[in-house]
Amino acid sequence: MKNLDSYTHVRGESLYVDDVNIRQGTFHAVVFDSPKAHGKIKHIDYSKAEALEGVERILTYKDIPGENEIGGIIADEPLFAEYDVHFWGMPIALIVAESEFIARKARGLIDIDIEELPVITTAKEAKAKGSFINAPRSFSLGNTEKAFADCDYIFEGETFSNGQEHLYIEAQGAYAEPLENGNIKITSSTQGPTAVQATTARVLGLAMHKIEIDVTRLGGGFGGKEDQATPWAVMAALATYHLNQSVKLVLNRHDDLRMTGKRHPYESSYKIGLSKDLKILAYEAEFLQNSGAAADLSPAIAERTLFHATNSYFVPNVTTKVLSCKTNLPPNTAFRGFGGPQGMFVIESAIAKAASEIGVSSKAIQEANLLDENDTFSYGQIAKLVEAKNSWNSAKSLFNSEGLEREIETFNQNNSNFKKGIAFMPICFGISFTNTPMNHARALVHIYLDGSVGVSTAAVEMGQGVNTKMMQIAAQVFSIPIEKIKIETTNTTRVANTSPSAASSTADLNGKATLMACNSLLERLKKVASEDLNVSENEISLQDEFVYINAKKSELSWTELISKTMLKRVALTENAHYATPEIHFDKTKEKGHPFAYHVYGTAITTVTVDCTRGTYEFDSVKIVHDYGKSMSEGIDLGQVEGALIQGIGWMTLEEIAYNDDGKLLSNALSTYKVPDLFSVPKVVETIPLETKGHDLAILKSKAVGEPPLMYGIGAYFALQNAIKAFNPNYNMKFHAPMTAEKVLMGLYEDSK
Ligand code: MTE
Ligand code: HPA
Ligand code: MOS
Repeated sequence: MKNLDSYTHVRGESLYVDDVNIRQGTFHAVVFDSPKAHGKIKHIDYSKAEALEGVERILTYKDIPGENEIGGIIADEPLFAEYDVHFWGMPIALIVAESEFIARKARGLIDIDIEELPVITTAKEAKAKGSFINAPRSFSLGNTEKAFADCDYIFEGETFSNGQEHLYIEAQGAYAEPLENGNIKITSSTQGPTAVQATTARVLGLAMHKIEIDVTRLGGGFGGKEDQATPWAVMAALATYHLNQSVKLVLNRHDDLRMTGKRHPYESSYKIGLSKDLKILAYEAEFLQNSGAAADLSPAIAERTLFHATNSYFVPNVTTKVLSCKTNLPPNTAFRGFGGPQGMFVIESAIAKAASEIGVSSKAIQEANLLDENDTFSYGQIAKLVEAKNSWNSAKSLFNSEGLEREIETFNQNNSNFKKGIAFMPICFGISFTNTPMNHARALVHIYLDGSVGVSTAAVEMGQGVNTKMMQIAAQVFSIPIEKIKIETTNTTRVANTSPSAASSTADLNGKATLMACNSLLERLKKVASEDLNVSENEISLQDEFVYINAKKSELSWTELISKTMLKRVALTENAHYATPEIHFDKTKEKGHPFAYHVYGTAITTVTVDCTRGTYEFDSVKIVHDYGKSMSEGIDLGQVEGALIQGIGWMTLEEIAYNDDGKLLSNALSTYKVPDLFSVPKVVETIPLETKGHDLAILKSKAVGEPPLMYGIGAYFALQNAIKAFNPNYNMKFHAPMTAEKVLMGLYEDSK
């Protein structure tokens, strides 16, 4: 089934925040943000801006009736700066005017005097100065100290992976409108409607029921709108609160790039110990997470780094530690993979380092250590229904990897100006919010008098196709065509107290709730039908809009059944609650069973490097992916391909740069390159792994949103191998992204 949004997307009819039909008299707002990364605010002169014709009001922290606090996990982030600023781009005031143009002009008229303080931009610097967001976390399994003593090989090293800009096509934004009695409705581009509602209520000093959040869809979120869609909605609501008028606040691309956080850069160090037969006996890693100036989601992201630190390998002795380092960058935030990719990059680097020192291929070490059934993860969960070896072996045979390796070897022997490299990248990603209490959702299903159906859930459609999946579930249970089903907007008055659409779990959580609600309704309908047709309930089924008795079509149609149900005064509405069973985690012991299940897969990446220029092209990425039993093959393939390219971008092209003063230099698409049509691999082939799926996955269709991003890590190591083929003196580096400049330097470095 096609993504149900395809039609309106292609015709430009899909609605985003910027498309909302605004009320007459709506004001437009622009954020005034800090022009310095760290300092004390000495003086701000708003007088010239306020005097500009068309400027209605400038709001600051002084205008906040409730708390000036938006931190979700730790209360360490003001909506508007009060006396000091902590990052370049930190919101200080909101200019509300008749038009966005006037508001922008007014912004240029504000004079600010800041006494500058020392700026920290890197995690290492923060660590040296003892600047942290919270206490460190550490996972351990076995006894690394003892195990290192038994190792034949031990290697240590350092790695760096840079941040990543989300670059959702729709920038952050919100539209707030006053309802009667001081109630406010906000149309927001958020992954987390409840977070927006709760934070708005806190800042405005209102009860949550006075604030309604509505989301039609996002033009992409990628984690960037899990937490960081909130401030703009709160600001618009604050202006509505004061002016009793609707207010629109949509960031332009420059403002969005400057003011919002990104994927966390990580500086990490590792120590890996192996036996002669290439078994990883011990692994230690310390992750320095560059959290930025406030906690945001950093503690949860740090935690997921530890969960994924050993990727899809079994390592019997592990000690990992993560420090969330407070710097003067915009608070970094969720980004597809949620700290997992950063952790996986480090163990892949450790393996590559070990392989190059021992003189074997990375593949040999990877293969020797893949997870098996009943292996223990460092966090105590026992691995079940493991597909690590299955996906690895399938990729090897389905794509004839040995033939591919021979071809590359021959190519490299016959070419001196071009070299090819290959890398394997297995993945293992845990599905569930790592914070167990977040794993729940509800669905509200109405069957209308005419037999049409409306489904409301907490799921936010952001391009990942979750609405299509919800529609499929209802259509399947009721056996009616999708035209009879409408997926409603995501609205806090219909489905309340929700977790954000994140952790790849949206379809599982909301889909299971939808399934439960639809099944309850189905039971009710069957009862009515059995009474009407005078047969027992278990003889009844619904098929293609008709009631069937023992697989034989009756005269009773779906629509007639609905009106009969109504006449019998039986409810045609159901509200279901789903909470993932089996999962638990004890943070005091750092042990438990946090994930409903894991997603596996293996990618084989090949690249050709132009050794005169340092430029490169990915020839192919061939993937065997564990979808379970995909309920939407087209959508899921789109997720794999999109995530892969996003991962390759992170590893190769996308270079976030701040200067020493904490100013974002890569602040436009001319200075920040993302993969385009010319830089994507020439061939991307994905074959589904044949598995039975998992009962905790919706209709056995495993979560797919984030895991395939980590296939992109293979691109980094394919490049390392190509450079090595040209320059045997190259000392492998683990400093992503591997831009063409770095490749060129590597081709000609002489480390000996
Ligand atoms: N795909 C599209 N097209 N747009 C997005 O914003 N976000 C990703 C992934 N795929 C995203 C996407 C992220 S970060 C997550 S967590 C999941 O989708 C969220 O949706 P799901 O839980 O339904 O997989
Ligand atoms: N993944 C994504 N988002 C989250 C998580 C998680 O595990 N926990 C809290 N927000
Ligand atoms: Mo995704 S990073 O969990 O929004």
